[in-house]
Amino acid sequence: MRHTAMNFFKAMFSLAALLGALATMSFPAAAADGASMIEQGKAVAYDRKKGNCLACHAMDDGTLPGNIGPPLIAMKARFPDKAKLRAQIWDATVANPNSIMIPFGRVKALSEEEIDMIVEYIYTL
Ligand code: HEC
Repeated sequence: MRHTAMNFFKAMFSLAALLGALATMSFPAAAADGASMIEQGKAVAYDRKKGNCLACHAMDDGTLPGNIGPPLIAMKARFPDKAKLRAQIWDATVANPNSIMIPFGRVKALSEEEIDMIVEYIYTL
């Protein structure tokens, strides 16, 4: 009987240790997810066949940027409403009917998911 009780406590202890390990593991995993969304957004923004934002905008560490559009800096201050930033990328012609910026969402040049990732990235600039 005493033996069974010991085994029970041993089992509970290892279960607690396992749960504790899982709990501490989940935090870095969540942080990595957030970072990778920003990284993917940067990749899509820089990709010449995707966002190609550098063709017109200076941004971050992008090389050989164009200057047709304004430099993408201090985006949080300029777009306190994240939805407005997304709307600008989705269809720039709403704010400026003569905009030469590609209405990425409207013409489906980028998927909704890709636009979300770009917004996350641009918001860090
Ligand atoms: C063909 C050139 C061109 C490309 C490519 C382009 N833009 Fe633009 N963008 C502009 C111009 C020009 C403006 C200035 C406002 C206007 O005329 O619509 C602008 C404005 C913006 C603004 C508003 C900036 C502000 O401070 O008001 C954001 C944000 C933006 N662009 C993001 C992007 C992102 C992100 C991409 C890539 C997915 C991109 N642009 C690709 C030309 C471009």
